[in-house]
This record gives sequence, C-alpha cells and structure tokens, in this order.
Amino acid sequence: MNHFINIKDIPTKDLKKILIDAKKRKKLRKKLNKLEVDKGAPLKGKLLIQMFEKSSLRTRLSFYLAIKQLGGSTLTLRPDELHLSKGAESIQDTAKILSNFGNAFMLRTDSDAKLEEFKKYLSIPIINGLSPSSHATQILSDVFTIEEIKKKPISKLNIAWIGDSNNVLNSLIAASVKFSFKLNIGCPKSYQPKKDVLKYIKINKNKINIFESAKQAVEKVDVIFSDKVISMNDQVNKKKKLSYFKKFKIDKKLMAYAKNDCIFLHCLPRGKEVDEDVFLSKQSKVWHQALNRVHVQKSILLYCFGKLR
Ligand code: CP
Ligand code: NVA
Repeated sequence: MNHFINIKDIPTKDLKKILIDAKKRKKLRKKLNKLEVDKGAPLKGKLLIQMFEKSSLRTRLSFYLAIKQLGGSTLTLRPDELHLSKGAESIQDTAKILSNFGNAFMLRTDSDAKLEEFKKYLSIPIINGLSPSSHATQILSDVFTIEEIKKKPISKLNIAWIGDSNNVLNSLIAASVKFSFKLNIGCPKSYQPKKDVLKYIKINKNKINIFESAKQAVEKVDVIFSDKVISMNDQVNKKKKLSYFKKFKIDKKLMAYAKNDCIFLHCLPRGKEVDEDVFLSKQSKVWHQALNRVHVQKSILLYCFGKLR
C-alpha cells in the first residue's frame, strides 16, 4: 500500500511507473464509454471514499470516473455532515472507521497537518486532492499531458510558470526536481516561493530560475503554466495582490516570446490572469489537460493499492 500526498516524497521511479501505466491504459480505452470498466477490473469491489473541505469540480469528477473505470466505486462525504467538522469526533476515530468501511481515502483540505494526522491513523492509502502546500495529482497529470502533446520526455523541455507561488507551483517545483526539467518562474518579488520551498530548490538542483519579469521567464519555453492569483481560502488583501500581478498576465504578446509551438496550461478554474484569446487559442490545451486527470489518477490509485503492473 502507498500514500500519495506530495510529489517530493514519492520516488522518481514510482512516478515514472505511474505515467507509463497511464499511457498504456489510456490507449486501451479509446473505444470504451466513460463508465465502461478496464479489462481485468483491477480494483473490482474497492471503495474510494472522497471528502472535499474546499470546492472542486475536476478532482471530484476525475476520481469518480477513475475508480469506476477500474471496477470500483466511490462515495463522497460532505465534511459538514461529519462529527469531525464540529469537533465532536477525533481524526483518530474517524480514520479507524474510514479504514474499516473503505479501501482508500481522498482528501481535499485546507490543512497539511490534517493530511499527516489522517495518514498516521489510517490503515488504507490516503491521496492528497489539494492542500495549502501541494496539488500533487494535478501536476503528475500535467507532466503526462506535456509528454503526450510534445511527444518528448519532459526533461528535454523548458517550462515556465507565470503566477502566484502557490500549491500548484510547489508541486511543479517538486516535479522539476524529480523529472529533471528546466523551470522558469515569473512572479513579483513579494510573491516568490516561501523560504522552505526556496531551500528545497537550493538543496536539490539549480535548474529552477526565478524572474521578476514575465517576458524573461517565458523566453523560448515550450510550455507556459498559470493559475489564479487568488487561491481558495487565500487570506490576503485581494485588490492589493491582484495589482502586483498586473504585469504577469498571459496575453498574445507574452506568448510571442515563447517558442512558436509553445502550449498554454492551466489547472482551472481560471481568473483574469489569462486573456480570453490565449485561453481559447489553439495553443491552449486546458480541456485536454483536465480530462487527462482521469487517466493519471487511475494509475495513482493502482499505485496506492500496490497494483501497478
Ligand atoms: N484543477 C482542479 O483541481 O480543479 P477542481 O478544483 O475543480 O477540482
Ligand atoms: N491554486 C488553486 C488551485 C485550484 C485547483 C487553489 O488552491 O485554489
């Protein structure tokens, strides 16, 4: 059994195995309908319990389809209906019940400590469905999307992130270390990655560069990523923060500094950080990116269940 919480804590060989499996499975599903089960139904009879303490559209839908296509099923709990959310039951006891009734637990939460606490008491795998410091399932899926579209290992590509130093970027930084790709970060000085992330970058490698200019960050890159400036539950002065990011908008002019065949990715939902004509352009692969989460999360589930081929 394996947990899937942060990319930085998962061995590179396992991350690569997940991507290889996802590629094989995706190919085999070309003619199947969304709810048809993969040959062999590897997770037949298994129950994935999901809980979202923050909003979600894509993660919810993609895990639903992922476990169904592997022959299992899912149940989504509403946190407000649990004793836990009212302080009337401990994580320890909740985890014991989840472990006895289900086979895996996917949690989207506003607390990294909560994920760790659940991990301590669960006897089933836990998957991080987004936390303040990480969005691991999203980024592993995005590595898959990039390699699929570019038909090259990501280590041979240059990637840029233009935007806030948030959970998605933290996972992208970890992926850059694990998969050895060049990453340029473009953000205002006051919104650079936190000290612990900068330390992680320093300890691990020097292929990551931080720029205070969006233009410099995207020069000749193959992929441009962005995300909302204001993340869910971001306790900041929104007006002030947005004003700092005015020069970090993804528009046609900025895209022109990248390679001609540069693609645009965004985990969604979007805000005003990207212009409509880039978002809806041929270079934008955001819908493709969102759908790939089903395929990669299937292989993440198999990894968690110790069933990767
Ligand atoms: N990208 C992503 O995680 O989307 P949701 O918040 O809709 O799940
Ligand atoms: N950074 C965003 C990602 C949403 C999928 C957030 O945490 O709100």
